[in-house]
Amino acid sequence: MTIRSVILGCGGYLPERVVGNQELAERLDTSDDWISQRTGIRQRHIAADGQLTSDLAVIAAQRAIEHAGIGVDEIDLVVVATATPDNTFPATATRVQARLGMKRGAAFDVQAVCSGFIYGLSVADNFIKAGQAKTVLVIGAETFSRILDWEDRQTCVLFGDGAGAVVLRAEDTQSQGILSTHIHSDGTLYDLLYVDGGPSSTGTAGHLRMEGKEVFRHAVHRLSEVVVEALAAHQLTPRDIDWLVPHQANLRIIEGVGRKLALPAERVVVTVDRHANTSAASIPLALAEAVHDGRIKRGEMILLEALGGGLTWGAALIRW
Ligand code: ACO
Repeated sequence: MTIRSVILGCGGYLPERVVGNQELAERLDTSDDWISQRTGIRQRHIAADGQLTSDLAVIAAQRAIEHAGIGVDEIDLVVVATATPDNTFPATATRVQARLGMKRGAAFDVQAVCSGFIYGLSVADNFIKAGQAKTVLVIGAETFSRILDWEDRQTCVLFGDGAGAVVLRAEDTQSQGILSTHIHSDGTLYDLLYVDGGPSSTGTAGHLRMEGKEVFRHAVHRLSEVVVEALAAHQLTPRDIDWLVPHQANLRIIEGVGRKLALPAERVVVTVDRHANTSAASIPLALAEAVHDGRIKRGEMILLEALGGGLTWGAALIRW
């Protein structure tokens, strides 16, 4: 018997308000040219006043549940990957659990910033393989607009808000599901990308700070490494990959990993131009887009990868 986590359904949600580069250029010393050439970003979605991370998460989750064709009563576990929870505690996942109308199961958050969705998927996959859960909802949801320093042109132009979700189900199969997940961190690189606040340090939420160039350098190196590790674990080569669904931080990083795998550009799912970097939400949003528009089909091999604050990074291989 081989128990695998099969993705039954996925869904995404983006807030209505769209902010283009030009709008930012009107209030900051930046330009559409600089942002689009250095990052590939043209616009981002920003949550409305009072719209919380859990609000985005619930809509993405409802869409994933509907796509999966299951009832909420079947869900054993809710994992929300977020670095922007509604409150310091309880976990945003518990609010999502209540809002979905779940009366049973467990719910908690996972915090690995932009790698959060891969970490959440890894946790869920291990719960399923250990037999502790049969059906798991994994959500990546963020409102990074709330932790940006809107005066800092080096960071505020890079991020957006959104949520994406998948429903995993334990199935006895060798032909489908998550093959493996690979997660890493290096805490000595904490100061390269962090928020300068928090309940135990300043008592305030704080703002995102980043050494962009250094993070970029580590991203290309670490992502290439973890992609090789994931493929080697299954004696696969880059030619076996049908789709790369990367974390959407910067088009240049995405293209760098795509080149490393010698994947044609049309086999790489890109949303960074329209969504910007939505941290833990970026991969499930990109996945949902490519599944719902018919690009990703059953039986295809999907590679996910991400790097974020910590630094944390990881990859997952999935037979769709
Ligand atoms: N508009 C105009 N000019 C700008 C802007 C801006 N928005 N931001 C920076 N500049 C200027 C800088 O001041 C600098 O000017 P100088 O040469 O006069 O000093 C110049 O542009 C070049 O700046 P760099 O920082 O060297 O630009 P770079 O090409 O490295 O691009 C970027 C910066 C986009 C941040 C890139 O380094 C990057 O994408 N880094 C990785 C980000 C990432 O992957 N994060 C990980 C995930 S995020 C998470 O986990 C939350």
